[in-house]
Parts: sequence; structure tokens; C-alpha cells
Amino acid sequence: MRGVRRIWKGRQSPVPTVPGNPVPTVPGNPVPAVPVGFVEAELFGGVRWHQHWEVFGGVYLPGHNPVQLLLEYVGLPDDLTGKRVLDVGAWNGAFSFECERRGADEVVAFSLEDPDLSGFNRLKAVLDSKVNYVLGSVYNLDPQVMGRFDIVLFLGVLYHLRYPLLAADMLRSVTAGQLFVETHVIDDCFIRPGKGSSEAIPLAQVAPVLRDVPIWQFYRRDELGDDRSNWFGPNVTAVLEGFGSAGFEISLLHRWGTRAAFRAEVVPRADFEGTYDGQDALVPLLDGLNLSS
Ligand SMILES: C[S@@+](CC[C@H](N)C(=O)[O-])C[C@H]1O[C@@H](n2cnc3c(N)ncnc32)[C@H](O)[C@@H]1O
Repeated sequence: MRGVRRIWKGRQSPVPTVPGNPVPTVPGNPVPAVPVGFVEAELFGGVRWHQHWEVFGGVYLPGHNPVQLLLEYVGLPDDLTGKRVLDVGAWNGAFSFECERRGADEVVAFSLEDPDLSGFNRLKAVLDSKVNYVLGSVYNLDPQVMGRFDIVLFLGVLYHLRYPLLAADMLRSVTAGQLFVETHVIDDCFIRPGKGSSEAIPLAQVAPVLRDVPIWQFYRRDELGDDRSNWFGPNVTAVLEGFGSAGFEISLLHRWGTRAAFRAEVVPRADFEGTYDGQDALVPLLDGLNLSS
């Protein structure tokens, strides 16, 4: 597999749980103390919090997605000094604010939610943060508008996309350094016709060879988790091959339950040569991606 590496980190661990989630202290960027006059209900009330993250010492966003643990799984460095960061699918914004806390020079939170409703602007205000929110879709990322980023986060978004490979190409167009991906994977979650994900079986139970075949299971309805917002479930090999073909050297870092974490580096794009999609002029959607570079 060209441009693709598999790093297997032992046995699968269970889905991470929030209680006891360790919060590593980053030298020079401590979690700030609770400000005088801070009222927790004013920050948290009326917002759907997806992420769990320490805003101030001992004060956590009340969501379930463990920000520190996932960043550990994708191998994000503790020190982001001098880096330009893009957080695609930022939602509440905790991953973006954490990157700022780790010393990033500039952070752009990029997502589909209204930041006044998603809690992003509330967090930005209480943290006195400089993170910039841009409302937009991954399909519209444009290096001519936003420039390129040293670090791109793409966490919990891939399986929500109807056009996952287009997203990989668009992410490649704005990544100058590393891309960090976290996603649902189907290696242990193959959904059979007429069944839901609660009755899913391992792909290898269908046929052992399928583990090494890139497979994107399509969800037309709500078969994955009773959630209509899910379109495609890749297996690990599909993530490696899909992002590999977009021009990333990508490695699997960690797998647990039905999730997996990957780290990727930009490399020259080679797979488009001789393909129809490689002919920019004939494919308006890909125009501007400069696929030859
Ligand atoms: C499950 S949440 C993950 C949020 C966050 N990254 C995390 O891991 O906690 C999915 C996010 O993907 C975003 N999203 C879905 N489709 C998108 C698209 N086409 N472009 C950009 N963001 C998208 C949603 O707006 C939402 O913020």
C-alpha cells in the first residue's frame, strides 16, 4: 500500500469514558483558574454540549466526547507553538480552544453550526480567546481563501459525509503539514441488511479477507446508531487507502470499540495521473485543487 502505514497499538481498548479522563498538564499552558464571579449555569445552560473539556480548573464542559483523550489517541503534540491550526467540524470548539491553550499561533474553528447557538461564542468570551470561527463545509475549503495549515483536525466528521473522498481531497488542499483523523470504523461493526448497528458483526466474520479490502459501507437511512446524519462507515483499510490516494502518508495510531485514530502527513499526490478526476478542467468540483502538486 503506497503512502500507507499501519501502526497497531495492541488490543482494542473500550470506548473511552469521561469519568477519570486524565488531563495532562501542558507546560506553560496551564488550565486557567476559575475567574471571580464565574457562574457555571450561565456558561452551560441552553446549549447541547457534545464535548468534555476542562474550561477552568475543575470546571468541565458537560458533553461526553473526551477531548484530551482523543487528542492523545491521534498523537497531537503537547506544544503547538508557532503552528497554524484548522479544526474542521469544530462544533462546541473545545478542540480548537485546546490547540490555542497548547500555544498555537493561530486557530480557525470551521464548522456548520451557528457559533452563537453551539456554545462556541460563549466559550470564546469566557476564555478571552482569539480562535476565529468560520462557518462552512469541508467541501468548500479553499487554500486561496484560507491559506494552508500546519495542523488540521478532522475528528468525528468523516462518517457524516456523503462525499468522503471529496472531503479528503479538499482537506489535502489546505494541509501543509499534518492531518489528524478520528472516525467510526466498521471493522467490528458491519451492518447486515435489515439490521441496525446494535446487531452488527465483525467484517472478518463475513470473510477474513475483508479486513484488508477498502470498504465504505453506505447508510441510506438511520441504520448506524439510529442517526440519519451518518452516510458512510469505512473500515480501517478504507481510511488508509482513501486518504493515501488524496496525497497523505497516513498511519493508524489507535483503535478502540468502533472508532479509530489516524495521523497523516502531506506527500506528493500521485494517484490522479491518468484518471478522469485528475483532469481539473473537466471536473469543475475539483477545479482549483491543483491536483498535480
Ligand atoms: C460528531 S460532531 C464532531 C465534533 C467535534 N469534531 C468532536 O469530535 O467533538 C460532527 C461535526 O461535523 C460537522 N460537519 C458535518 N458535516 C460537515 C461538513 N460537510 N463540513 C464541515 N463540518 C461538517 C458538524 O457540523 C459537527 O460539528
